[in-house]
Amino acid sequence: MGELDGRTALVTGGSRGIGRAVAQRLAADGALVAVHYGGNEAAAAETVELIAKAGGRAFAVRARFGESGALDQLFEGLAAGLAEHGEPGEDGGAGLDILVNNAGIHLAGSIGQLTEEEFDRLMAINVRTPVFVIQRAIPLLRDGGRIVNMASAAARIGSPVQIGYTVSKAALVALAAPLANELGRRGITVNTVNPGVILTDMTSPWTGVPEAMAGLESITALGRIGQPEDVADVVGFLAGPQGRWVTGQTIDASGGTYLGPIPPA
Ligand SMILES: NC(=O)c1ccc[n+]([C@@H]2O[C@H](COP(=O)([O-])OP(=O)(O)OC[C@H]3O[C@@H](n4cnc5c(N)ncnc54)[C@H](OP(=O)(O)O)[C@@H]3O)[C@@H](O)[C@H]2O)c1
Repeated sequence: MGELDGRTALVTGGSRGIGRAVAQRLAADGALVAVHYGGNEAAAAETVELIAKAGGRAFAVRARFGESGALDQLFEGLAAGLAEHGEPGEDGGAGLDILVNNAGIHLAGSIGQLTEEEFDRLMAINVRTPVFVIQRAIPLLRDGGRIVNMASAAARIGSPVQIGYTVSKAALVALAAPLANELGRRGITVNTVNPGVILTDMTSPWTGVPEAMAGLESITALGRIGQPEDVADVVGFLAGPQGRWVTGQTIDASGGTYLGPIPPA
């Protein structure tokens, strides 16, 4: 019996990378998982298939964030999927227990390079969307529910070459505390996970460069680059019963990136 048996979860950006690993972890723990994707239907279908092969339950939901009507599409798809696959209960299986706002985009660039269009896009996908996904999800969230927002260690590290991304993720970090206060009396926790560099499609442009990999490893206390599962396990903890007393917090899941000087071996 899994810790999340009878629970439902929505993972935005669950088709690939960190979101896929989160969806797999929550499904392995017993949750019925809505695997959201923006356009890569094949990747979302693969996530659902991987979960099914492992004995879990999931369905895919498409919504292209940043386009008009995306949130209507998301919540209509979620409701339809939960009605089809949901646990029969008082709410007919329409309730949500876990929301993971994971979908996001990265754009590199210094303050001198950043354009207003890029900044608006970063804010639209990385901040505006999760804010209004949460607003729409709150009426569906059952007491004792969980919200986890995927920000980034970039919000802590002063990297000058990803200024727009950094600001967007810092804004996302700011969401957790006020929402934790608002929702805490219902037993709903709200937390942020800040991954460091993780091997996904997002980071492939530079993790494919051996010198860049070596540089990243050298500034990481645990001495390696992260895998999606390293982050998914943190989300699994926060989403599960053992995470019940953690709310309004930011959890750094970066293997100790940029903690300070690492002594020579
Ligand atoms: N990888 C890292 O090193 C790292 C580090 C810190 C934080 N993060 C954060 O972790 C999250 C996941 O990162 P990742 O590396 O797993 O990313 P990824 O491999 O690029 O996957 C991105 C996911 O987000 C979805 N998505 C992107 N833009 C979307 C849009 N406009 N509308 C709807 N869905 C959209 C994608 O859907 P499709 O498959 O349909 O395109 C995909 O599922 C992001 O928020 C990212 O900022 C990542």
